[in-house]
Amino acid sequence: MVGSIVILTGAGVSAESGLGTFRDAGGLWTRYPLEDVATPEGYARDPGLVLEFYSARRENCRTAAPNAAHRALAELEAGWGGELLLVTQNIDDLHERAGSRRLLHMHGELMRCLCAACGHRWPSDAPMQEQDRCPACGAARVRPDVVWFGEYPYHMEEIWASLARADLFVSIGTSGNVYPAAGFVQDAARRGARTLELNLEPSEGVSDFDEARAGPASRLVPEWVAEMLGR
Ligand code: OAD
Repeated sequence: MVGSIVILTGAGVSAESGLGTFRDAGGLWTRYPLEDVATPEGYARDPGLVLEFYSARRENCRTAAPNAAHRALAELEAGWGGELLLVTQNIDDLHERAGSRRLLHMHGELMRCLCAACGHRWPSDAPMQEQDRCPACGAARVRPDVVWFGEYPYHMEEIWASLARADLFVSIGTSGNVYPAAGFVQDAARRGARTLELNLEPSEGVSDFDEARAGPASRLVPEWVAEMLGR
C-alpha cells in the first residue's frame, strides 16, 4: 500500500550513536536538573551554565555518527512512493547527516543559535559563551536554538496537517512523556491512521498504539523499513 506516513523520533533513535537519552537510568535529566538547563528561567538565572551544558552536547554530537536506524529512515524516504514526514524531538543532526530531507526538528537544533534579544537565528557548531554577540543586533544574549520547557515547539501547524492526512503514524525511541509530541498517536488515530510503536521497551502509552515492537532501534527500524519497501 502506498500512503502517507508520519514518523516521530526521540532520543532512543540516537542512543546507539552514543548520545544520551533523558529519562532512562543515567539519562541527562537524572544528572542535570532540567529546570536549570532547559527552561527560560534557568537561562535567566545562569546563562553561563546553560551555554556550557549545550556546548558540551554540541561536542558530543560532532563526534557521534548516524546509526542503522537513522540510515534506514533516510532509505525509506528515498524509496517511498507516497508522502513521508519525519518529525524529530531530537536536537542532534544525525537524521540529516544520514540523508533525511523531509525532516522537521520540533524541539529546535543544537547546531544553531538564537538571539534572546532580537530572535535572529543562525547556524553555529562552536562552543557558546556569554560574551558572544548576535550577528544581527550585536546583543550578548546568545542561546542555543532549542525549545525549552514552557516554550512552544516549532512547525506545529505543518505537523498537525500531516498527522491529519496520515495513513500510518510510527513512534520510534521516545518515552512519550512530553506534549504535544506525546499526543500525536491519539491525534493520528482519531483521523484514521494506523499506529505503530518501535521502542526498546513498551512505553507507558503503548496501549494507544495498534501495534508495538520492542527492541533496539538499530535492529527494529531497518527491519520495519525493509517490510515497508517490500524487501
Ligand atoms: P526519553 O529519554 O524520555 O525516552 C527515550 C526512550 O527511548 C525510552 O522510552 C527508552 O526506552 C527508548 N530507548 C532507549 N534506547 C533505545 C534504543 N537503543 N532503541 C530504541 N529505543 C530506545 O527521550 P524522549 O522521549 O526523546 O525535550 O524525550 C522527549 C523530550 O524530552 C526531548 O525532546 C527533550 C526531553 O526533555 C526538550 O528538551 C524540550
